[in-house]
Amino acid sequence: MSHFLFLNASTREPGHIGNTETLARRAAAVLPTETKQTWCKLADLELPPFVDLRHTAGTYPMPMADAKDMLDATLAATDLVFVSPVYWFSIPSPLKTYLDHWSAWLRVPGLDFKEKMAGKRLWVIATSGNRDKAQPMLDSYRLCAEFLGMEWQQPLWGKGGAPDAVLSDEAALAQASTLFRSA
Ligand SMILES: Cc1cc2nc3c(=O)[nH]c(=O)nc-3n(C[C@H](O)[C@H](O)[C@H](O)COP(=O)(O)O)c2cc1C
Repeated sequence: MSHFLFLNASTREPGHIGNTETLARRAAAVLPTETKQTWCKLADLELPPFVDLRHTAGTYPMPMADAKDMLDATLAATDLVFVSPVYWFSIPSPLKTYLDHWSAWLRVPGLDFKEKMAGKRLWVIATSGNRDKAQPMLDSYRLCAEFLGMEWQQPLWGKGGAPDAVLSDEAALAQASTLFRSA
């Protein structure tokens, strides 16, 4: 059974829904009812700062607290969806920190993180002011997927700005309604 994990990288204040989540909720609305959905606002978590132990200890202990919850959610998902605004032409820091922790999870003895990630699908739903200038962020995500042997899916981009701006992007809304049709 499919299990979609939506990782929302927006840093809007609690209770304020951003454009990227709005677009992602449109896309998720067509998922079959039997498809499990888990939604996570990364900025609400307390992920510890990542520390590079690759060339000292060389391995990492099993993570704890929110990091362990994210590891478990990641491994439980068949499909990861990065719900990602563009920040400074790049990846928003909450999602970047989560990705940095993948480097630790790759080195937890016995976890086999890389093997377990292979074959999961990676989707990206993004908003920003300019589609062309979102490309470096989208390329970064694609390269991450390739590194772990994940199945890269064509990203969905919408024109954001103030909350609900994306509701004026009819092309993005139309694409959202078919994005997960084959999933
Ligand atoms: C810190 C920050 C940096 C941003 N950098 C860019 C950028 O480089 N290019 C761009 O087009 N928009 C940029 N934006 C605008 C957001 O991408 C846009 O408003 C987006 O729709 C916000 O997503 P959200 O509503 O889901 O939070 C930036 C916004 C913030 C807060």
